[in-house]
Amino acid sequence: MTVIVIAGGLSHERDVSLRSGRRVAQALREVGCDVVEADVNADLVQLLRDTTDPVVVPLLHGGLGEDGAFREVLGVLGVPFVGADGAASRLTFDKSVATSVVRAAGLATPRQVALPHDIFRELGAPALMDSIGAQLGYPLMVKPSRGGSALGVTKVNSAAELPSALVAAYAYGPVAVIESYLEGLEIAVTVIDEGDGPVALPAVEILPESGVYDYESRYTAGTTRFLTPAELPDDVLDAASRLAVAAHVALGLRHISRIDMIVVDGVPVFFEGNVAPGMTETSLAPLAMEAAGRGVGEVVAALVAVAGR
Ligand code: DAL
Ligand code: MG
Repeated sequence: MTVIVIAGGLSHERDVSLRSGRRVAQALREVGCDVVEADVNADLVQLLRDTTDPVVVPLLHGGLGEDGAFREVLGVLGVPFVGADGAASRLTFDKSVATSVVRAAGLATPRQVALPHDIFRELGAPALMDSIGAQLGYPLMVKPSRGGSALGVTKVNSAAELPSALVAAYAYGPVAVIESYLEGLEIAVTVIDEGDGPVALPAVEILPESGVYDYESRYTAGTTRFLTPAELPDDVLDAASRLAVAAHVALGLRHISRIDMIVVDGVPVFFEGNVAPGMTETSLAPLAMEAAGRGVGEVVAALVAVAGR
């Protein structure tokens, strides 16, 4: 079996993906796997066809990688891969769709409005500021519906800040989501399924020095403190694990995901799922694996084995 780690791509998260790819490829080699690293380019399909017994580890973040398109191609080619299939990735990557699915499963989510750019233009900012304020109140979070690594995400404290936050979100795609702001502690729970059903790894508590877990706090070493496991009461940690597994199942995910949540007054609230969680030196999923007493290479190799069965 040859593991093909695919990283890079053309999304805004290309650099992050390359860092994830390097780390995972090295970790897999350390546990004895035969690893090829590849980017998405014109040679990729040939590589996939020429490789004997390939299993792909798709570490493409953002569009193409997480929106399901690339995974659908792998499905068509009949190449096994680690992680959610194309349909579940597409659903999960879109925050407005994922939030509705998770809410429909009876799990806690923020109140949310999805706002396509066309409607924003048609209604105009003043009318929107009134109606959104009336529906959700302030503060709010404004995000691209399809995006990652906190790019285009803004906390909005008052109506006057809403239009520019929407414009920032639309820079990343045609639909923005506007959510009620969840005041609490951010944690991330990685879920893995090594063949015996989905299991939550220890929650990682996220404490950015700046107070905001933005792109810089995510990828600049030393700018965020992580507590693994999160320093929360056992009942809250149990609730977080249950929420993560339930969201993973509701979204139809496979092998690995990371479910992000805010703990509000002791209650974990889902705000997004990630089908290709970051695996960089400062990312959350590797911390969770290590907190579980597992190495990154060991866990990913186990998932490769399950995917390749
Ligand atoms: N989108 C980044 C890679 C993450 O969620 O870790
Ligand atoms: Mg994400």
